[in-house]
Amino acid sequence: MSKYNEVFNRSISDPEGFWAEAAEGITWYRRWDKVLDSSNAPMYRWFAGGELNTCYNALDRHVEAGRGDQTALIYDSPVTKKIKKFTYKELQKEVALFAGALRGLGVSKGDTCIIYMPMIPQAVVAMLACARLGAVHSVVFGGFAPHELAIRIDDANPKVIISASSAIEVTRLIEYKPLLDKAIELANHKPQKCVIFQRDEVRATMMEGRDHDWAELIAKAIPAECVPVKATDPLYILYTSGTTGIPKGVVRDNGGHAVALHWSMKNIYDTQAGDVFWAASDVGWVVGHSYIVYAPLFAGCTTVLYEGKSVGTPDPGAFWRVISQHGVKTLFTAPTAFRAIKKEDPNGDYIKKYDLSDFKYLFLAGERTDPDTYHWANNLLGKPVIDHWWQTETGWPITANCLGIEMMPVKAGSSTKPVPGYDVKVLDSDGNKVEAGKEGVIAIKLPLPPGTLPTLWNADERFIKSYMDVFKGYYFTSDGGYIDEDGYVFIMGRVDDVINVAGHRLSTGEMEEIVATHPKIAECAVIGAADSLKGQLPVGLVVLKSGVDGDINQIKAELVKMVRGQIGPIACFKSVAVVNRLPKTRSGKILRGTMRKIADSEEYRAPSTIDDPAALTEIETALREIGYAKKQS
Ligand code: COA
Ligand code: AMP
Repeated sequence: MSKYNEVFNRSISDPEGFWAEAAEGITWYRRWDKVLDSSNAPMYRWFAGGELNTCYNALDRHVEAGRGDQTALIYDSPVTKKIKKFTYKELQKEVALFAGALRGLGVSKGDTCIIYMPMIPQAVVAMLACARLGAVHSVVFGGFAPHELAIRIDDANPKVIISASSAIEVTRLIEYKPLLDKAIELANHKPQKCVIFQRDEVRATMMEGRDHDWAELIAKAIPAECVPVKATDPLYILYTSGTTGIPKGVVRDNGGHAVALHWSMKNIYDTQAGDVFWAASDVGWVVGHSYIVYAPLFAGCTTVLYEGKSVGTPDPGAFWRVISQHGVKTLFTAPTAFRAIKKEDPNGDYIKKYDLSDFKYLFLAGERTDPDTYHWANNLLGKPVIDHWWQTETGWPITANCLGIEMMPVKAGSSTKPVPGYDVKVLDSDGNKVEAGKEGVIAIKLPLPPGTLPTLWNADERFIKSYMDVFKGYYFTSDGGYIDEDGYVFIMGRVDDVINVAGHRLSTGEMEEIVATHPKIAECAVIGAADSLKGQLPVGLVVLKSGVDGDINQIKAELVKMVRGQIGPIACFKSVAVVNRLPKTRSGKILRGTMRKIADSEEYRAPSTIDDPAALTEIETALREIGYAKKQS
């Protein structure tokens, strides 16, 4: 039996024994009473009764074990031309001081704090400081508009919001403080305090009494010790797009999270203490939480915090410069970042300029790695390129080539095999298992392994309904795909209204809700159309109210502005087509899937239940006019 099969089978046949062994990699104040508490299934709890502190496991224990002078964090910011390194000892000191500052503002165990920050070290410090106090952080990605931030403020009810004066998008300065002020104005819940880190590039105007300057607080703070929390206590909430405008607050616990992430570093990423690990993502996304901040630090690695892009900061050699300058062993990023490099440097001329001898593995996730991008990266780099599949909900990979167990042959287009702990199945719409090679929806047999979401914040019922009730005994992933005869998993895309734009998860349902509020719009649909750079882009199809006249381009521009204003620039909502009607079934269901196929020039067949087949021809013409449906059907 292969080593992978042996480890995988054990994880499924004896999950409690398997994860109890993995839990030895974590330092506990109190050992658990029960490895897996199934008494309230399908709400499972890992390591019930155990006590630990996540920040202690990320920092203090390494300092105590003699790793204090090793670099813990490298901040590399081509947009400000700064590089700053923090040893474990230095990071521990900064975090303890900021935790003390938060405590001084009244934050204690169980309180929530929102972090709305760019990719600067203070974002990492703020996350770890919350963990140190046992407070629950919720990081909101900086590309979200005030309206989105306000929704999260109202759901998380933060005691304190931590932010910075600005972000820098390549060369553009984006002031965060006015966005934060606007969000607080829009929200019903008003946080008592805000902490603002003033960047050199711009100083934010402070609100007397509410806003506190980061540096001033730190100057007088008393360092805080690590507060023991229960393994089952929440570490963070991370909001992610669902099918409606109300995001899902994915909860992560402390114990299962630490165990799973620590285990993953060795077994999936083949990484040891002292290695330099770089996840080129953003702390606002789950990849940033897990593999910029927590996992590399649990494992005693050096993590890289990169404030830049794969191109334009300053050129398509940016990633290779960082890898060679800091001795990066493992790079983890989204395929879209590689497609951007491929577009600007198709022959890999920039790769040749750098010494990449320390670089061993490239991991890709966030969307499917298309075979073209896989072959391009693999040929030019000559290193293993590993596609692995996961979701905000799981927090760590569901399928991967587990390099620390055994490297399996790579199949382009597949994210390889289920990671130990994940019993992945393909089901038909009735919940029956389908045969190898046949497409269906992907589900994971319960229980999920440690580190995956125990519930949604303040929404147990939504958690059960969205994930656990669809197929009894399974977690419903909302992804479709198949498993081939060799057990390789192929993820083909979402089966709901969630789309993936440049590795960012967005809800077309939410965009529709916004577009529908325009006074001149009678009806609308937003679909995700294929894009060679960003994977997918949203496209709006709108029907105007009868009698509406005026400048159609003006209406389109207003819609683009509304979505950008309410969700944010990362929605990339820029294409709108006006049609006389939307194609629907006789029962009134909008044929979004058929429209998506038309936009992507895929073959499609009008469903027998269609109300008016001519509507499809009209859609095709309208999409062609805005650059989609290029091939004649
Ligand atoms: N704050 C404010 N605005 C932001 C932002 C932030 N943190 N992040 C992105 N934006 C803005 C961008 O400036 C851009 O604005 P524009 O429409 O005015 O130009 C818009 O949001 C879209 O951003 P993006 O989709 O990132 O496009 P891009 O052209 O700037 O960059 C890529 C393209 C492919 C280089 C970039 O999307 C990328 O590297 N993606 C990888 C994503 C990733 O790491 N995902 C995590 C999963 S691993
Ligand atoms: P997020 O929650 O933002 O990480 O997005 C999760 C979604 O991204 C998944 O449900 C998939 O649709 C998609 N995704 C992530 N990684 C992959 C991958 N390696 N292959 C295919 N799809 C992926």
